[in-house]
Amino acid sequence: MAKAPPAYRCTECGARQTKWSGRCDACGAWNSITEEAPLSQGPGKARLGPARGRTVPLASLAEAEAPPARATSGLSELDRVLGGGLVQASATLVGGDPGIGKSTLLLQGAARFAASGLSTIYVSGEEAAAQVRLRAARLGLAEAPVALAAETNLRDILTTLDAERPDLVVIDSIQTMWLDSVEAAPGSVSQVRAVAHELTQFAKRRGTAVILVGHVTKEGQIAGPRTVEHMVDTVLYFEGERGHPFRLLRAVKNRFGPADEIGVFEMTGQGLAEVLNPSALFLSDREARAPGAAVFAGIEGTRPVLVEIQALVAPTPQAQPRRTVVGWDGGRLAMILAVLEARAAIPFAGLDVYLNVAGGLRITEPAADLAVAAALLSAREDAALPQDMVIFGEISLSGALRPVSQAENRLKEAAKLGFSQAALPARAAGALSGGGAGPAPGGMSVRGMADLTAFVGEMFGAG
Ligand code: TYD
Ligand code: MG
Repeated sequence: MAKAPPAYRCTECGARQTKWSGRCDACGAWNSITEEAPLSQGPGKARLGPARGRTVPLASLAEAEAPPARATSGLSELDRVLGGGLVQASATLVGGDPGIGKSTLLLQGAARFAASGLSTIYVSGEEAAAQVRLRAARLGLAEAPVALAAETNLRDILTTLDAERPDLVVIDSIQTMWLDSVEAAPGSVSQVRAVAHELTQFAKRRGTAVILVGHVTKEGQIAGPRTVEHMVDTVLYFEGERGHPFRLLRAVKNRFGPADEIGVFEMTGQGLAEVLNPSALFLSDREARAPGAAVFAGIEGTRPVLVEIQALVAPTPQAQPRRTVVGWDGGRLAMILAVLEARAAIPFAGLDVYLNVAGGLRITEPAADLAVAAALLSAREDAALPQDMVIFGEISLSGALRPVSQAENRLKEAAKLGFSQAALPARAAGALSGGGAGPAPGGMSVRGMADLTAFVGEMFGAG
């Protein structure tokens, strides 16, 4: 068998190269290309030699497994996103833009876990102990039984952790930590990976819950926490719009619970406050009967969330009209516009279209299609939708309305917030308890529609 050619990799961005060079083609870093050690000696050789592996014990799937032990912080929005609490011997990554509030969230979380009886260490590599203390004082947590360390040398940190054996360790942030055995700058891919690997191993070895903070860099997250997502058990992203007080903690991966769960917080002078009823918050500053606004009854994780979708449609002299989206997928908007034009004969040519999800939420559900279409039509016709109506449903390319999951939960949440009617796909309406004929959840009046043409006819007269 031919010998594999040597492989090279950039220690800054992780890009693979076929040959050594002084400067990385991918990220432009100098002197960052190193030869990669070949992956083991190759299975072919091992098979022949005497050094065989041992047999691994095989178990049956049916063996009873106790659920993992969890600790709860009492911050219910945090516990929910963790899947019902923090799991022992687990590694969790909390990523987010610099300045979004990660340190604040984790200091508050650490204090809560410590107060509930976990021995807790908070290691800051970004701020001096005095700064962390100041923040704790501002958050009213000065008395919390959290042990503090300001350190970036991971070898020293691990020695300390091995001696102290805490239940919970927060590492803020993974980009500031460094291992002396890795020849690369802190924050580079090889350091970040090595540090994450060591800490994950430590979590498994000692039964400690480890939380890693990672900054996400705007340019593609190359040296960011994305490169360690596969190593950890749980990945949470802390997001929000600058200038908005709302912050969302979103699970994107969770080996111990549902992914896609969100926790909603509001920034205050005393730190992050839980928002137990996010729908009320997202709808709090709605204007009365504004054209172009539609309320979408969505599901985020396991919880229904109501949010306003706003559209603005304006004539433009440009040959290429603008399509601007905040909080939703631009490709999906293009699709809805095309379906409206092709199936309901409502053209948007010559019109600029702006779409915004209020409150800084980012929606990924296809169930938002119908609410988006409603907002677009309402803006185009300059006709406000009924104030007390929620809308949801997926639109297919044929213009048919497809049912979506959890219609009942969506309606219950809407009823709780004072909405009294809902527009949704006919098949979803038919599937409701009572077959759509009896009273819908919460006494809502439900209007089921088969396709986009029916929807346009019913909501906007003849269209
Ligand atoms: P910080 O937690 O330091 O963000 P990160 O660790 O993600 O970089 O928060 C950034 C700034 O915002 C900091 O000066 C404190 C302030 N802040 C508040 O005043 N109240 C809050 O609820 C939060 C989350 C932050
Ligand atoms: Mg920070």
